[in-house]
Amino acid sequence: MSNDPLLQPYTLKHLTLRNRIIVTSHEPAYPEDGMPKERYRAYTLERARGGVALTMTAGSAAVSKDSPPVFNNLLAYKDEIVPWIREMTDAVHEEGAAIMIQLTHLGRRTRWDKGDWLPVVAPSHHREASHRSFPKKMEDWDIERIIRDFADAAERMKAGGMDGVELEAYGHLIDQFNSPLTNELDGPYGGSLENRMRFCFDVFKAMRARVGDDFILGVRYTADECLPGGTGKADGIEISRRLRDSGLIDYLNVIRGHIDTDAGLTDVIPIQGMANSPHLDFAGEIRAATQFPTFHAAKIPDVATARHAIAAGKVDMVGMTRAHMTDPHIVRKIIEKREEDIRPCVGANYCLDRIYQGGMAFCIHNAATGREQTMPHTIAKADIRKKVVIVGAGPAGLEAARVAAERGHAVVVFEAANNPGGQIRLTAQSERRREMISIIDWRMSQCEKLGVTFHFNNWADADMIAAEEPDVVIIATGGLPHTEVLSKGNELVVSSWDIISGDVKPGTNVLIFDDAGDHAGLQAAEFIAKAGAKVEIMTPDRSFAPEVMAMNLVPYMRSLQKFDVTFTVTYRLQSAEKSRNQIIAHVGSDYGGVEKQRTIDQIVINHGTIPLDDLYFEMRPGSRNLGEVSYDQLISGVPQTAERNPAGTYQLFRIGDAVAARNTHAAIYDALRLAKDI
Ligand SMILES: Cc1cc2nc3c(=O)[nH]c(=O)nc-3n(C[C@H](O)[C@H](O)[C@H](O)COP(=O)(O)O)c2cc1C
Ligand code: SF4
Repeated sequence: MSNDPLLQPYTLKHLTLRNRIIVTSHEPAYPEDGMPKERYRAYTLERARGGVALTMTAGSAAVSKDSPPVFNNLLAYKDEIVPWIREMTDAVHEEGAAIMIQLTHLGRRTRWDKGDWLPVVAPSHHREASHRSFPKKMEDWDIERIIRDFADAAERMKAGGMDGVELEAYGHLIDQFNSPLTNELDGPYGGSLENRMRFCFDVFKAMRARVGDDFILGVRYTADECLPGGTGKADGIEISRRLRDSGLIDYLNVIRGHIDTDAGLTDVIPIQGMANSPHLDFAGEIRAATQFPTFHAAKIPDVATARHAIAAGKVDMVGMTRAHMTDPHIVRKIIEKREEDIRPCVGANYCLDRIYQGGMAFCIHNAATGREQTMPHTIAKADIRKKVVIVGAGPAGLEAARVAAERGHAVVVFEAANNPGGQIRLTAQSERRREMISIIDWRMSQCEKLGVTFHFNNWADADMIAAEEPDVVIIATGGLPHTEVLSKGNELVVSSWDIISGDVKPGTNVLIFDDAGDHAGLQAAEFIAKAGAKVEIMTPDRSFAPEVMAMNLVPYMRSLQKFDVTFTVTYRLQSAEKSRNQIIAHVGSDYGGVEKQRTIDQIVINHGTIPLDDLYFEMRPGSRNLGEVSYDQLISGVPQTAERNPAGTYQLFRIGDAVAARNTHAAIYDALRLAKDI
């Protein structure tokens, strides 16, 4: 038996958990019709197979119709969910993991224009900034109805074979009752802490009465809202003790902070560039104060920190949730003493930001996550060993190299720069985006183990590639900044990359025209503002940096607002002209009818990339498929068979930004789904 603290079993009531690592509840927004169907099951099962002790499925499954699915939540208020839950729990149990589900009523943290268009309810009329609904203040019949709904849903989950239910309190209805900031009720459910917590205890009592004692009940709640006038740490410890003393629940899952704003949410679930494990010591204090089973997750991305959390007695079970979205096989790799093979979570929060935009959670650098039915986490060997030549060692090229090498092929990579990474290396120039480089480092170490040959400082040409006698050539050369967007004066501008790379010094009065809306524009703004310049970011869009998304925007805003950067939306830079040592920028609008001017000394354009595709077109005539990709074959996961040139000697493909400017996830997905079938 291993003496690794992480691998020790843990007894929670009647349940034996096989180790100390859990996946905490998170809604990946995979439900179909509100049900956990095949996609959901495949995703959950992969983590159970990977060895996790307990997977808490479904973030925030809705117990009531007036808690509509704002990020495609499961609908726990429907009876038809029971067989779907049963299929999932049976499959997970067969893999030796425990499975629980998180139930909630979102209260004001949702929108009335979803689901059945019912009014949003809360214990006050205060609006939640993130979801923007003005809630109805709850009446006695709302309270009774929702308590009943919780009990009904818990009973459904037990019938579906769940090991237990966790109440999502933080930021949702339960903590909206608990917090003095959001509870303005009179009478039995408002006023004193005892009254405010009455709703929570009534819910637990009703659930316990239905599910009996041999079923785990827990709560995920904030023990310190970190808001003036809110639940503070002393109140949080008191709340924790009362929860324990109620005798109704079996564990505490500790959160610190508030989630009613993008900024608050980002402090609760920190993004890359923010400190690791920021609330672990706090969770440890709650455990010490209550001597009660304590769970916690918040940016504990690596095994060493998780091990410390258990060894130091901070928590009983440690959550590694996003870490498992990046690599579902963490526990297996710990057991096999292959920790260095764990694909690292880089805290990009692409997963989370997507669900808040109505999309599914995808991991920025594991394209198989959420696509388990079609994309493998473990690559199968090919029947025939081929020679695969890849040009470009950015995220797309390296993913293609890794996957092709896992297939057992002989892989050679040419890269013009002296280092791998492409645009990732560039983005990692910003301190807060430094973690992105792990996307490259992990692939490099996997490729090196798999025997991939790299030629850096090599501008590959057709002869060099032909000399390798390839069966398959993959062009992953990426793109170069696209700055020719003005009707006049294109020679006067520099690109966001010029600034980020340090190739061009920032001016003193700078206009950034950003209609790509991605990280590079904001990164350039930050570099320039930090250098002491006056900066205006202008975009023709309705909001700026739409590709950056909510949680990713938070650290930028915290920085750029301090530098007094100006944000101008709905205006388009049209042309520029030199005027002595200044530049006159002519500005219009897609809405028409305005002409403005700015006098500045530097224009920075952020407008995506133009594919670097010369080599691809040079290689086309010698290829068998002339570069053709069958999208039907690509999507259905079978090898590419297009034959357009009988004289050709190799298959030719291009992937990532060498095709069209997209993002890191798209580049990696391009590579995985092509290379897994070579
Ligand atoms: C896509 C996604 C959805 C989430 N949804 C929920 C949720 O519904 N309920 C919840 O309590 N936490 C939710 N979380 C938060 C996670 O449970 C966890 O607390 C958070 O990711 C921090 O832990 P980590 O750093 O180990 O990922 C979500 C996280 C992600 C990535
Ligand atoms: S998208 Fe980023 S934060 Fe989310 S799981 Fe992947 S690496 Fe981690």
